[in-house]
Amino acid sequence: MSQGKGAAKAMEILCALGRIYEAPDMVEVGSVQVSGVSYKNIGEHGLAFLEEWAQMGSKAVVPAAMNPGGADRRLWKSLGWPADFVQKQERVIRALEALGIKPSLTCTPYHAGMEPSRGEHIAWAESSAVCYANSVLGARTNREGGPSAIAAALTGRTPRHGLHTDDGRRPTRVIRVECDVLTPADAGALGTIIGKASSKDERGGVPFLTGVEPPSTAWLKALGAGMAAAGSVGLFYFEGTPPEGLPETRVTSLEDAVRSLSTGTGKLDVAAVGCPHASLEDLERIASMLGQGRVKTPLWIFTSEAVRSGAGRLAAELESRGAVLVADTCIVVAPLKDLGIRNVATDSAKAAFYLPSHQGVSVRFGSMERVVKAALLGGWE
Ligand code: F3S
Repeated sequence: MSQGKGAAKAMEILCALGRIYEAPDMVEVGSVQVSGVSYKNIGEHGLAFLEEWAQMGSKAVVPAAMNPGGADRRLWKSLGWPADFVQKQERVIRALEALGIKPSLTCTPYHAGMEPSRGEHIAWAESSAVCYANSVLGARTNREGGPSAIAAALTGRTPRHGLHTDDGRRPTRVIRVECDVLTPADAGALGTIIGKASSKDERGGVPFLTGVEPPSTAWLKALGAGMAAAGSVGLFYFEGTPPEGLPETRVTSLEDAVRSLSTGTGKLDVAAVGCPHASLEDLERIASMLGQGRVKTPLWIFTSEAVRSGAGRLAAELESRGAVLVADTCIVVAPLKDLGIRNVATDSAKAAFYLPSHQGVSVRFGSMERVVKAALLGGWE
C-alpha cells in the first residue's frame, strides 16, 4: 500500500464505512472510478476538500479514472463555456491527478480501456457505470461516493459488503416485461419504472427481468442508467429463469414513463445524445441517421476523449453534418444556465429524469432517431 497522510486518511474513511456496513474485512479492488468531478456539482467546498487531500502526497495504487467534469477541455471556448468556470474545473482535475487519478473524464470507462473481468472486485462511483459493470460485465462494485472511491484508489481496497458479497447480490424482485422495449430510449424509460418499483426493496433493489431480450450494448447501458437514476439499483439480472417467491412487478406499457420524461415544449436550444457517453458504435448509428443532412439545431454528442480521438473519419463526417462531439463532460453536469440553454431534446431517460430538477431546463424525450431528426428539422415535431 502507498505511504503518506493521504493514504492514512483514506484508510480511516474505509474503516468507518466498514463499521457502518458491518463489513467483516476489505476486498482488494482491480480498478476505481471516481465521481464528484464536475465543479458545477462540488463547488468551492468540494474543490477545497480535494486540494487539501492532494497536498497530503499519496497516490492511487490501482488504475483509477475520473467521471465527467463540467467542461470540454479542448472545445470549451468555441462552445461558449465561461472561462472562470473552466479554470475552477481544471483545478478539480489537477487535484485528482495529483492523487494519481487519470483524467479520462467519462462515465463509460469500459469504452475507454478500463474493462473489469468477470468476478473482479472494483470500486466505481458513477451509477450507470456501476449498473453496467455489475450486470453486464459481471464485476462486483458498490455504488461508491466520491470520497470513498478516492479512498479505494489510494489503498487498493474497499469494505466487503453489499454488491461485493453473494448475499448482497441476491435478486429482490421479478420484473415481468409484457410490452415492446425496442430502442435504447425505451430501455431507459423501462429502467425508470424498474428503479421506482425497486426503491423500497431491501438493499436498494436487485431486479430480475424476464420477457426481454436485450438487442445491444446501447440498450443495456440505457436500461441501467434509467434504473440507477430513478432508484438506487446497482445490479440487475436479464438472463435465465427468474427465482420463485419474490415480489413481482408487471410492466405492460411504457407510455406513462415516456410522458413523464418528456415535459418540454417544441422549442429546442440543443439536441443532446451520449448519456451515458457514446461508444464508437453509437457514433456510427448517429452518422447513418444524419445521412446527408445538416443540423439546424446544435446536436451535441457527449463522449470520452478516448472515443472522440479514436473516431477519426467518423468524427470528421459527423462534424461535416454540423454535429459536435463534446468530450470530458455531459449535459447533466455542464453549466447549462451559463450557456443560455433552456430547452433540451434527449434520448436519455437518465438525462430527462435529472435535467428539469438539476438544471431547470425543459426536456423533450424520445428515441435517438427522433432526437437526431429534431436537430435536422430545428425543432421537435
Ligand atoms: Fe454519464 Fe452524465 Fe449521463 S455522467 S450517465 S452522461 S448524466
